[in-house]
Amino acid sequence: MRILFFGDIFGRPGRKGIAAKVKALREELDLDLIIANGENASQGIGLSIKNAQQLLDYGIDLLTSGNHIWKFSNIYSFLKTSDRIVRPANLPEGTRGRGWTSFEVRGEVPVAVINLQGRVFMDPVECPFKCADKILQEIDPEIKVILVDFHAEATSEKQSLGRYLDGRVSAMLGTHTHVQTNDARIFENGTGYITDAGMCGPVESCLGLSPNPVIKRFVTGLPQKWKVAGGPIELQGVLLEIDEETGRTVSIETYNSGRMTV
Ligand SMILES: [Fe+2]
Ligand SMILES: [Fe+2]
Repeated sequence: MRILFFGDIFGRPGRKGIAAKVKALREELDLDLIIANGENASQGIGLSIKNAQQLLDYGIDLLTSGNHIWKFSNIYSFLKTSDRIVRPANLPEGTRGRGWTSFEVRGEVPVAVINLQGRVFMDPVECPFKCADKILQEIDPEIKVILVDFHAEATSEKQSLGRYLDGRVSAMLGTHTHVQTNDARIFENGTGYITDAGMCGPVESCLGLSPNPVIKRFVTGLPQKWKVAGGPIELQGVLLEIDEETGRTVSIETYNSGRMTV
């Protein structure tokens, strides 16, 4: 199974890039499944119901998310009703939406996708390690292809969860830091891994935002008005090939669309 996983889609420029490219990519790269982290797709912080539906219409099969998913309250009902979006699973019981989901690819191969959030340098959440254990017990053993979007800040926490899950999931893909890392690999028990898949958004930016207010914030310590950066964008992510029988990753490499004007 060939899967393309996009890192955080950032604001209108990121959405436009997805709109322009995704349907053609499905053919070009012979993809069976396209997943994207959508937590920053609306104004660079959050995801509105309108933009979530647009991204699915553009050809994304499933949206994952993270700490910013709660910004626009109109997404709450979508989180509750749609089976094409997940939010971090390790949130208090009763939180809206689902932390993992399963579905069939090409109408025949079952796949599960889990979303987890880190807790190092981030708001407190429940233990992502224990939460992953619990979910893996719930998932039907018939499902061999299992993907994890670990939305976390610290590289140590990401590598540790990746190794903790080695051999138990097909791949663990990091998101949240918006900077694609150069460590895509397959661990010894067959789990594909990358610390961060990157971002779909403006290249000349601070994590997607216009640099000047961000710099001013660091220099003065005072709150600033953020602005989504302009200029060229890149779509970044990872391309995976997974053995459908065993669930092991056969190959994993970074994906970069190259600079695009949208
Ligand atoms: Fe993000
Ligand atoms: Fe985030």
